[in-house]
Amino acid sequence: MHDTVTIKDNSVLDVEKVRKDFPILDTLVFGHPLVYLDNAATTQKPEAVLKAMEEYYHTINSNVHRGVHHLSQQATDAYELARKKIAEYIGAKHAHEIIFTRGTTESINLVAYTFGKKFLRPGDSILTSGLEHHSNIVPWQLACEDRGATLKVIPIDENGELILDGLEKLLEGVKLVSVNYVSNALGTINPVREIIAAAHRQGTPVLLDAAQAVQHMEVDVQELDVDFLAFSSHKIYGPTGFGVLYGKEQWLNELPPYQGGGEMIKTVSFEKTTYNDLPYKFEAGTPDMAGAIGLGAALDYIQKLGLSTIRQTEHNLMAYALEALQEIKGLRMIGRSAHRAGVLSFLVGDIHPFDLGEILDKQGIAVRTGHHCAQPIMDQYCIPGTVRASLAFYNTPAEIDKLVAGIRKAATLLG
Ligand SMILES: Cc1ncc(COP(=O)(O)O)c(C=O)c1O
Repeated sequence: MHDTVTIKDNSVLDVEKVRKDFPILDTLVFGHPLVYLDNAATTQKPEAVLKAMEEYYHTINSNVHRGVHHLSQQATDAYELARKKIAEYIGAKHAHEIIFTRGTTESINLVAYTFGKKFLRPGDSILTSGLEHHSNIVPWQLACEDRGATLKVIPIDENGELILDGLEKLLEGVKLVSVNYVSNALGTINPVREIIAAAHRQGTPVLLDAAQAVQHMEVDVQELDVDFLAFSSHKIYGPTGFGVLYGKEQWLNELPPYQGGGEMIKTVSFEKTTYNDLPYKFEAGTPDMAGAIGLGAALDYIQKLGLSTIRQTEHNLMAYALEALQEIKGLRMIGRSAHRAGVLSFLVGDIHPFDLGEILDKQGIAVRTGHHCAQPIMDQYCIPGTVRASLAFYNTPAEIDKLVAGIRKAATLLG
């Protein structure tokens, strides 16, 4: 049961028109028009996001939830409206199930620390997969180390897909499952519905790292019945340094606070402190107001384009890119799942990924090289890293042609 996303219509974007919304795409790099294919690392920001953030600072900048004065109330309204938009975007039942964080990394650390503290005991385990970003491995290692628990791993096959045959057995003794929806290193879309259903049969909650999913396809937390979900604003056309943790109300109420400080308290005395209601219990200190407003604007922008239209546009571009890359002599795709989004990872002959990346850069083509914060995947393939081209809806077939020509040039120079 793979998590293929149903494409509701076949409409595609007018990409040339859409590109005009992203001022940075006009940049020249070493005299060449920028070909930005590093979208899995971070996406570019549309004018609408830049404007919303600038307007915030120009017109209503003030601290939230604290002032009786006009500006503070306006800032609070804008900030809480952003929370509502985010809740709606992922289909959360309540806005207070949306916790603002600095990004996916902090969201996962929040759950690993608080869940670990409350629920993990010596002998328990956490289950993750062989397809994870370091930020969905290391926080769990820290929690397990702290609580005397162990980290178990769902293995992957040579196509870069999870092997779920032994899942029921693996789930024994597991207190929480934490896996990604889409792999940042290989682009595999994981069968998360199957994993969630199997975990829930044993009463085990699931956290989804959706850092590479929410920008590519519809993600509905209630439909998935997922317990926690994390993503980063900067990977979905919003500002950097801002992110989201969704948690089912019941779980968030059960977890202890993560950080202490202002905002997360109801009353403080040296004898006893009581904690605030959701979501503020997990939001200590002055938050990133402009970040929230910027992400809200990014989600408005995406919804205006239409997620299913984005999905279809990216799907077509991915098919084009896969075919074009496979024509290159000596090119080896790393990760061959038929269910993929956003990412193409590959090696060419014996060329080191870094050398290939440098030559592409000189032609204005931005790709990522290395282990992509997923060293266990590279170890599995016995490679030091890959070249990763990652797509957004504003990329074009002409840019893929430039990538292909650039790789051919590099292969001639280095081969
Ligand atoms: C799948 C996945 N998880 C987690 C992260 C970490 O995101 P951030 O650095 O924005 O916290 C990334 C970033 O590349 C990612 O791709």
